[in-house]
Amino acid sequence: MPHEIGEKICGRVEELAAISEDPAKLTRIFLTPEQRRASELVMSWMQAAAMATRLDAIGNVIGRYEGAWPGLPALVLGSHLDTVRDAGKYDGMLGVVTAIACVEALASEGMRLPFAIEVIGFADEEGVRFGTTMLGSRAVAGTFDPDCLGRRDADGFSMAEALRTFGLDPGGIAAAARRRTDILAYVELHIEQGPVLETLGLPVGFVTSISGANRVEVTITGEAGHAGTVPMAERKDALTAAAQCVLAVESRCRAEPDCVGTVGSLQVSPGAINVIPGQVRFSIDLRAAEDARRRRVTAQLLAEIAAVAADRKLRAESRVIHELAAAPCVPWLVAQVERAILAEGIAPFGLSSGAGHDGMAMMEIADIGMIFVRCARGISHHPDESVTVEDAEIGARVLLCFIKDFEPKGAL
Ligand code: GLV
Ligand code: MN
Ligand code: MN
Repeated sequence: MPHEIGEKICGRVEELAAISEDPAKLTRIFLTPEQRRASELVMSWMQAAAMATRLDAIGNVIGRYEGAWPGLPALVLGSHLDTVRDAGKYDGMLGVVTAIACVEALASEGMRLPFAIEVIGFADEEGVRFGTTMLGSRAVAGTFDPDCLGRRDADGFSMAEALRTFGLDPGGIAAAARRRTDILAYVELHIEQGPVLETLGLPVGFVTSISGANRVEVTITGEAGHAGTVPMAERKDALTAAAQCVLAVESRCRAEPDCVGTVGSLQVSPGAINVIPGQVRFSIDLRAAEDARRRRVTAQLLAEIAAVAADRKLRAESRVIHELAAAPCVPWLVAQVERAILAEGIAPFGLSSGAGHDGMAMMEIADIGMIFVRCARGISHHPDESVTVEDAEIGARVLLCFIKDFEPKGAL
């Protein structure tokens, strides 16, 4: 069977993957020249699919395909266009290019639906540059926190400065917010980023819910000193304290069901081989399927970090910089996604998502649903991330079937 749509989707994923700050690996960060190039490419595809395009105030790319008449409320589809560092090609991008391919299929059939379709390529989901995530979808949901504008990247640029350099007005972000009445639902197709579908031999599945997440920034301050002269008992080594905290994250999260914790970034200062570390900053990413568990484990960890520091006569400052509640996919949409999967001859299987997605922000203004596409060996946030052309094709067919049969909640 030919896989024309799958080939097109995967070809476009490759084109986007070539837009990177580092030619040797894929890294595309919020408000960079690479984001601009990717946005322009995506807008050209949207225009070829008969969509009107625009960039909103935070840099999201938005394409709109009108329904039977202009101005109808929209079924919103999409995903994100930013990446982690040394990323895979499919995380985010697959959802954007598949949604565009579906609209292109509708346009080529001359089909207008009793609702509009909007495809959004969110500018920031990963939160790599400023630490706090889903800036694009939060702006659309009207939950963007203006205090974020003061956050600085690793080079000392504030978000406000980065927006201005990109040609956007930080004061205008509130205008990116959409009204609940304009949106019928938000549905995102994404790679699974885990091994479940592959193990079951299924190309796609429906998502039941997305785990909630916290990000914490911790700074431990001790005292730098000479590595050769300060006796072991008199040291105020910030790194050994941080090491104890990192292990505490691991052991607490191991002891809890459906809870994961990661220390993925750690800076040691002054960072010299013969100097006792005087200060360490590290991040904690903590997720759990249940919000109460996530909050409790986060609080316990913060207390444990404070106790480790006090024990060693050091200072610890911990700041929760990001919190998103678990996001359930709503039953009326899940049922329609299931129906679309079944219509493609596939047994519908539901799974929850440990990874975060823009739906977590979008749920503030719309009911959300998700379709997962199988990825090889569950590998993601890694250059080996991969999806087959066949699965990309099946994902597109399921999404197209979902769109064509979509019934807004009020119509049920
Ligand atoms: C985004 O991919 C996240 O789950 O961190
Ligand atoms: Mn990701
Ligand atoms: Mn993603």
